[in-house]
Amino acid sequence: SGQVTIKTLQQKKDAGKKITMLTAYDYPMAKAIDKAGIDVILVGDSVGMVVLGYEDTLVVTVEDMIHHSKAVTRGANDSLVVTDLPFMAYKVNDISYTVKNAGQIIKESGAQAVKLEGGSEIVEEIEAINKAGIPVMGHLGLTPQSVNQFGGFKVQGKGSAAKELLKNAKILEEAGVFALVLECIPAKLATRITNQLSIPTIGIGAGKDCNGQVLVTQDMLGVSTDFTPKFVREYTDLRQEINQALNKYKEDVKSGEFPNSEESFSN
Ligand code: KIV
Ligand code: NA
Repeated sequence: SGQVTIKTLQQKKDAGKKITMLTAYDYPMAKAIDKAGIDVILVGDSVGMVVLGYEDTLVVTVEDMIHHSKAVTRGANDSLVVTDLPFMAYKVNDISYTVKNAGQIIKESGAQAVKLEGGSEIVEEIEAINKAGIPVMGHLGLTPQSVNQFGGFKVQGKGSAAKELLKNAKILEEAGVFALVLECIPAKLATRITNQLSIPTIGIGAGKDCNGQVLVTQDMLGVSTDFTPKFVREYTDLRQEINQALNKYKEDVKSGEFPNSEESFSN
């Protein structure tokens, strides 16, 4: 189907076609997602929670993101690879530091774009990264890097907060983001934002009207062991599959059923 670019995503919105996006943190998963024809692979800082076992995303570093992004870009042929700027790699009142971090991620990993969380407070950083030639994806709503300000992982943009979120979405579009992730906000608000923006919206827990959808791959495959949010649909139960395989292996080794002669070398 050919290399997906930021232009492809805009064309999809303009043509009323849905955009597909999933996370990956390693080579085999990136390869599988790419082969399935998913438009965008996000190397999310969710790597901290999903594969590194931390409570939140705040501990993830630029080096972590580069390490995982390198593996993902090796597996991705056609999918657009977007990498998260982690907590404290930006929004630290130093725009050149932000651009340096974004540039390092792109240069060292081969990802094609970066994603930043936030609204009006990151406009100058978005513009500076764009100026360096790096496309930026936005992210509003339940932005996990702000978990401590929210007081937990809670739905955002309810009631009077809706207006502010819509305003920030417009500010981000104006600042030059090529697409906007909307996480965990009321479906009606996501519809309004999607209709009022020219750029595509990509929802997670944001209803059916976004121009695209994203999920954490381990969540939708039923691998994630901890809390699974209400907005996740589990398309399979790999936890169970893995558990069965591990137990079968254990039993086969203990009973001497594994390995058999075909799985052994002759003289
Ligand atoms: O890190 C991540 O996985 C994300 C998506 C949930 C949008 O930012
Ligand atoms: Na993220």
